[in-house]
Amino acid sequence: MQDRNRQKLFLVETFGCQMNEYDSDRMLRLMESQGYVETRDIEQADLIILNTCTIRDKAEQKIYSFLGRLQPLKKNKPELIIGVAGCVAQQVGKKLLRRAPYLDLVLGTHGVQRLPELVAEVASTGRQVCYTEFDYNLTPPPPLAVEKAPLKAFLTIMQGCDNFCTYCVVPYVRGREISRPPLDILNEARDMLDHGVKEITLLGQNVNSYGRGLEPAVTFAELIYRVAELPGLERLRFTTSHPKDMSAELIRAIAEVGPLCEHVHLPVQAGSSRILKAMRRVYDRDQYLAKVDALRAACPDVALTTDIIVGFPGETEEDFEQTMDLVRRVRYDGMFSFMYSDRPMTKASRLTNKIDAKVKERRLYELQDLQKEITVAKNREMIGRRVEVLVEGVSKRGSSQLTGRTRSNKVVNFTGPESLVGGLACPEIIDAWPNSLLGELAEDSVSAMAGA
Ligand code: 5AD
Ligand code: SF4
Repeated sequence: MQDRNRQKLFLVETFGCQMNEYDSDRMLRLMESQGYVETRDIEQADLIILNTCTIRDKAEQKIYSFLGRLQPLKKNKPELIIGVAGCVAQQVGKKLLRRAPYLDLVLGTHGVQRLPELVAEVASTGRQVCYTEFDYNLTPPPPLAVEKAPLKAFLTIMQGCDNFCTYCVVPYVRGREISRPPLDILNEARDMLDHGVKEITLLGQNVNSYGRGLEPAVTFAELIYRVAELPGLERLRFTTSHPKDMSAELIRAIAEVGPLCEHVHLPVQAGSSRILKAMRRVYDRDQYLAKVDALRAACPDVALTTDIIVGFPGETEEDFEQTMDLVRRVRYDGMFSFMYSDRPMTKASRLTNKIDAKVKERRLYELQDLQKEITVAKNREMIGRRVEVLVEGVSKRGSSQLTGRTRSNKVVNFTGPESLVGGLACPEIIDAWPNSLLGELAEDSVSAMAGA
């Protein structure tokens, strides 16, 4: 079918987690299988989906303001269907339809697979539809569209979370933790690799507790060994891990499984045992540091990144100093840091000892300055080393520059022939900044490739 005759889908995400990205991709693929084509021009759209995240900030308010801007589009084109999906849709539900009467569809986190039938229902009845049931039947997604096989893909191995960290809304909007059967995961991975995917990231809110409740029992490390054997897999990653589930078996796998990259995102959240307890993280500072030591003993090159929240209710200057001290000790390669924000339904939101916004802001900047120093120093330590880069494409900075990532997940830009895109290259690192490294290919390797 000619693209111009096909229905057009405009899909937009509020900044969210990788699970959010994965769901967007699934929604796109599902609608493509119904004959839709993606557009980046909102005026052309027949269907607009806003995929939302509610983990921090005033996500709900942002959505109303975005929807307000869509109202004139709907006036000009009454058959336009507008939907809100994701975590805010799950959290707010029908209220969204009342607040924005021109909204057609509210699709909760477990409704992704039902998108085509619900869009069809809106189209045929003209009525608003809200689907926020929790449905624990994890249907595998449809096969990848051949013409758009990406180099890197996410593969969700589980959904939901049972940890109920006291600040976190995820268990309420994503539901209970449930693992997909290993055979479904292996089939999906095989399908991705058949379509040319080179790097797979196993995805879940807490991947290293994978397997709980499955019959027969299987651990996350066992799953890794099985996925890693699949032919065509260049690189394997996983995210996010909970420190309490970082088992000795998994640490061994990180050290010995070839395609598994030497990078672990291990959110610590705080450096003070007192705050960790109030957060219900189920480990203390020393236990966390012991996991880091074990990881580095087994795999000295492992890159570590983390998430940290500053200004959790009751956090004193001394607690915050403990966080700074932990960051100095671990020397993370990278960090995502956030000011604590109240989320609906959470236990922490009901605490009374909240921290002043200005104090939170100051702590955040202090922490970020420290991390920046460490990141630059660690990146500069790489100068002079040759590193394996999976070349993802042409760099945004200039057309002669290629860009890719190291196994430790650092961005490297370097000059080289476009024919390298999609494969591995081994540039030498010649300069380094906080967010990227500059590489240089050896003369002989460029001429060898040109002759190949
Ligand atoms: N306030 C601030 N940051 C939060 N995160 C989760 N909930 C909150 C909250 N209420 C952060 C955590 C988590 C990351 C995805 O978002 O650091 O690891
Ligand atoms: Fe939220 Fe904690 Fe679950 Fe992560 S482990 S999703 S922070 S409840």
